Amino acid sequence: MAKLIGSKKIRTAVFISGKGSNFENLVKFSFSRRSIIEIVLVISNNSKAKGLRYAKKYKVKKKIFSFKNPKKSENEIIYLLKKNNINLVCLAGFMKILSKNFIKRFNKKILNIHPSLLPKYKGLNTHQKVIENKEKYSGCTVHLVSSKLDSGRIILQKKIRIFNSDTPKTLSKRILKQEHILYPKAIKKIYSSS
Ligand code: GRF
Repeated sequence: MAKLIGSKKIRTAVFISGKGSNFENLVKFSFSRRSIIEIVLVISNNSKAKGLRYAKKYKVKKKIFSFKNPKKSENEIIYLLKKNNINLVCLAGFMKILSKNFIKRFNKKILNIHPSLLPKYKGLNTHQKVIENKEKYSGCTVHLVSSKLDSGRIILQKKIRIFNSDTPKTLSKRILKQEHILYPKAIKKIYSSS
């Protein structure tokens, strides 16, 4: 069982840009019995992100930052995270790269989920690339965020078989299901070993 100070939950912010299925899944995880996290905030660079509807549904405070001026947006986000005593940031389909300066100033754990077996297939269009390269396996990875894209310490990975009949769409659907299992598991893992 994870070690928590008193019975306080880890105040968490989730960053999204799109569908937000991982965000919804983390919210459900936070509602589960003896959950170690509490989702306090959802942050997006995209005011039209579909996933933002879950903010209303589950009563999570949402904030949008345009990133037209990335430095300004990052400064505002840091201020907001500190004001809300956030201890953990979970990136979940967040399409902006956070600067070295941001990571240093936040100075707490930032996690990301990526739909490949890192260090293979960093970046975008992973499912298409693994199929084109006739890989036998793909999967998903939860890792700590460092200043290099999809490169921080790996916390957990799940490997799945690729079928001949797979398309990027079928593969992404199967992997997403695994992501929803992996992300909560990885959060439990980092806090049970620290
Ligand atoms: C997921 O595949 C995640 O691994 C990647 O972006 C996708 C986000 O999906 N980083 P969703 O918005 O959580 O549904």
